Amino acid sequence: MSQNFNIPVEKSYNAKDTRYDKMSYRRCGHSGLLLPALSLGLWHNFSFTDDFENARDILQTAFDHGITHFDLANNYGPPYGGAEANFGKIFEKDFKAYRDELIISTKAGYDMWPGPYGNFGSKKYLISSLDQSLKRMGLDYVDIFYHHRPDPDTPLEETMGALAQIVRQGKALYVGLSNYQAPEAAKAFKILEDLGVPCLIHQPRYNMLDRWVEDGLLDTLEDSGVGSIVFSPLRQGVLTNKYLNGFPEDSRAVKDGRYLKTDQIKETLDQVRALNEIALERGQTLAQMAIAWLLKDKRITSVLVGASRSSQLLDSIKALDCQEFDAATLESIEEILK
Ligand SMILES: NC(=O)c1ccc[n+]([C@@H]2O[C@H](COP(=O)([O-])OP(=O)(O)OC[C@H]3O[C@@H](n4cnc5c(N)ncnc54)[C@H](OP(=O)(O)O)[C@@H]3O)[C@@H](O)[C@H]2O)c1
Repeated sequence: MSQNFNIPVEKSYNAKDTRYDKMSYRRCGHSGLLLPALSLGLWHNFSFTDDFENARDILQTAFDHGITHFDLANNYGPPYGGAEANFGKIFEKDFKAYRDELIISTKAGYDMWPGPYGNFGSKKYLISSLDQSLKRMGLDYVDIFYHHRPDPDTPLEETMGALAQIVRQGKALYVGLSNYQAPEAAKAFKILEDLGVPCLIHQPRYNMLDRWVEDGLLDTLEDSGVGSIVFSPLRQGVLTNKYLNGFPEDSRAVKDGRYLKTDQIKETLDQVRALNEIALERGQTLAQMAIAWLLKDKRITSVLVGASRSSQLLDSIKALDCQEFDAATLESIEEILK
């Protein structure tokens, strides 16, 4: 009896047929996994306090343009868990039929629930947190599960053992680390390798104004065959033209100053203005240049952007149209960043 594989799946969103036409995909370290040059993070703008339809529009726009990777964490909100719960609703409505075309990640490592078991790096915390995340998102598994930050007090063997167990249980396909410095990352990679569950990826902060990863981490990742996905590539919006003429009411710095302070922004404005001039000479926006500047390093697997509206994402994606830098431009940028 022949099977009909073409039974239409009822869904409210039809992804564009052109979604894979322009995005480029990069191999993640020595693994079999390809990630889009741009990925989308749900740290801000996707929780209960945000506009649900706007969040949905951003996710659809991303996928329609080949952004196959959505990055979450247990405590993205507010409230904690809010981004995962909302993502779960959107996934159910729009993306369930596309599950096999998506790479969905989440993390645990920061403060999540009260008491001694809802923070840092114990096996108890990581296993229970991922179980909660899967329920909130309505998923059977995530593609990547991260330890969100190093824990100085839990033996690395325990934390890495928990990650390996999670993969063996089928709750995550791959595991990653975030915010680990080079020496501790190298130790963790060795433990994971010995456990037969190689680390797929590291997620550090990296942008033109914050270059700590150049001081050893990127070399360590390359030597270990581990990929990298870099967060806050636009320094939360500072490396765009957004703050050149003041502080817009709808900007992150004004709406939610928890992690982005206006004073910090003021300190870098001269550099940002000078960078903006170079971007304009290149015929691109500063956001596009900031992304292209990261992508020129082949050790970067993916640039993990955020967006508060789909028009920003469409702007950022155009970074792919102008990625080359001549030596003189790179030198001018270095002068500004000194
Ligand atoms: N592992 C970790 O510890 C960690 C930490 C932080 C973030 N992350 C991950 O990284 C993701 C991205 O972080 P991020 O949101 O800080 O990234 P980002 O891309 O540096 O900043 C995103 C913000 O920049 C502004 N923006 C984006 N595109 C723009 C454009 N083309 N033109 C003008 N403004 C633009 C928007 O700000 P407005 O809201 O002001 O419009 C947007 O919310 C997070 O969602 C999360 O997944 C991980």
